[in-house]
Amino acid sequence: MCGIIGYAGTRDVVPVLIGGLKKLEYRGYDSAGIAVVDGNGVEVVRAEGKLSNLEAKLDATPIKGTFGMGHTRWATHGKPNENNAHPHRDCTGKIVVIHNGIIENFLPIKQRLQKLGHEFKTETDTEVVAHLIEETMKDGTKFVDAARKTLKELEGHYALVMFDGNDPGTIVAAKQGPPLVVGLGENENIIASDVAPLLAYTRNIVYLEDGEYAVVDQNNATFYDQKDQKIEREPKKILWDAVMAEKEGYRHYMLKEIHEQPRAVRDTFTGRMFEESGEIFFNDLQLTSGDWAKIKKVHIVACGTSWHSGLVGKFLLEDAARIPIEVDYGSEYRYRNPIIDDSTLVIGVTQSGETADTIAGMQEAKKRGAKLITICNVIGAAATRMSDGVIYTNAGPEIGVASTKAFTTQLTAFYLLALYIRQLRGDDIDDRRYAMHEMRVIPHKIEDILAKQEKHIEELAHKYSKSQDFLFLGRGVHYPIALEGALKLKEISYIHAEGYPAGEMKHGPIALIDENLPVVAIATHTPVYDKVVSNLQEVKARDGKLIVICDEGDDAMKKFADDVIEIPWTTEPLQPILSVIPTQLLAYYIALRRGCDVDQPRNLAKSVTVE
Ligand code: AGP
Repeated sequence: MCGIIGYAGTRDVVPVLIGGLKKLEYRGYDSAGIAVVDGNGVEVVRAEGKLSNLEAKLDATPIKGTFGMGHTRWATHGKPNENNAHPHRDCTGKIVVIHNGIIENFLPIKQRLQKLGHEFKTETDTEVVAHLIEETMKDGTKFVDAARKTLKELEGHYALVMFDGNDPGTIVAAKQGPPLVVGLGENENIIASDVAPLLAYTRNIVYLEDGEYAVVDQNNATFYDQKDQKIEREPKKILWDAVMAEKEGYRHYMLKEIHEQPRAVRDTFTGRMFEESGEIFFNDLQLTSGDWAKIKKVHIVACGTSWHSGLVGKFLLEDAARIPIEVDYGSEYRYRNPIIDDSTLVIGVTQSGETADTIAGMQEAKKRGAKLITICNVIGAAATRMSDGVIYTNAGPEIGVASTKAFTTQLTAFYLLALYIRQLRGDDIDDRRYAMHEMRVIPHKIEDILAKQEKHIEELAHKYSKSQDFLFLGRGVHYPIALEGALKLKEISYIHAEGYPAGEMKHGPIALIDENLPVVAIATHTPVYDKVVSNLQEVKARDGKLIVICDEGDDAMKKFADDVIEIPWTTEPLQPILSVIPTQLLAYYIALRRGCDVDQPRNLAKSVTVE
């Protein structure tokens, strides 16, 4: 996710900006830039790749000033290159903008401004903001008012920081989605995407809320709501150390990333789902109705957690496409002489985009003439470069080795792809609109689970943390969640855990059941709910300890199970995005209780780039 920093004060601003961007590097980026107002006006220096490339440019052409801003870009619209690196400017080069997030309606705004003569230099959505402010100022409107008016036109999610080089010293910072904080110092104020870069200057921090914006100069920071009314915002005293700040106060990256899932899922469907028209729109998928008409079968190739999301994807895509969908481990696929031709669509699923087994499977598919797309979280990763089309998951960098937000955003991507296929097939538009509405409220339902169940799950973790084995059971769309829950637990707590189809338990694993074996089951209301209940009765009959993830208000299950974890209702295709959350938290708190290294579990790597 992009990193933002803005400064108004008395210090030499370039070291402040570069030092601040370094504190934000963990967020991941593929280009960087700064804008400084010095004696000659606005100086902008940008570079592709790592911050060291930007520093090299600044060493070669030093710039001095006490006012400016900087940005590290995690590309969403437009390739990760220097030209698309922020900051972006208007036609005059004086209105300067940096941005984190997605401006959904940038295209119609851009087209309108182009008709008015504005010349755009980049492929980004961000650039429209600078030109829109410029256009608004043409009738004499002052910069801050023009920024206010511009904000009212924007749709989507954004953290925006802007200034007018003709009137340096004042920054406007606006939040609608991605985080933005204001640090209040002595004769200096500093704005950033999160707390980490501010701690070197102040611990008095104001967190902007959605819809709010701040007008900041060296001595003042004034806060406004979306009705442009002034609001009083008491600064918080931040006592974190720098390392904690990078985790935004969470104890581990994994826990931070579990809590980022509402934002990550929202960023994955934002700009792709349009209820009004009932349309799904993918920037980079390159899959037309003509392409789709040729497809007779689909192979999904992945590893680990991504393979589990592929299993859910099979349910969603088979229901939508009514053609055979196979799911393969990358390490198996390439050696099983798969039957592939130009009527086969192969979907590589990979968070890192660098997993050797998955890439090898994709190469095999390409060699045999398949159409190849990938669902990936890293712009420009190897898997994306070899594919005909890409669906990016926009989760932001996932630091914890145990995959969490990558998984739920992969499920989101598959859900959107299934709707897109329905669209290509001309399926009922009202059904698609309903499905989009249910997806749109999923982030709130994830927040609901995190708010209501985390403490309870932590207590369950303490209760069961000494167990030596776990069994996870699920049916239908929840069978992959049983597998994923078992993987999460085993990879960070080192407890042996198995995931199994609930209906398959009686064919062997039932021999494991006794009073020492916790059984985690997903029993939400799907067409096979009663079947799952019968399977769970077999567990209870043998004194197994039952922890059941069920619908809120399932009183019968509360009486029947030893422990329940309630989750909000949603439609069956979306249930896995919710039912996986308790399994992530259970694994985290058990591993924590057992003193394991949650973010860097033994023997594991975040991206397995060897076979
Ligand atoms: C999941 O928690 C693990 N980190 C691992 O199974 C991972 O999902 C697998 O290595 C695939 O990685 P990828 O998604 O980057 O291809």
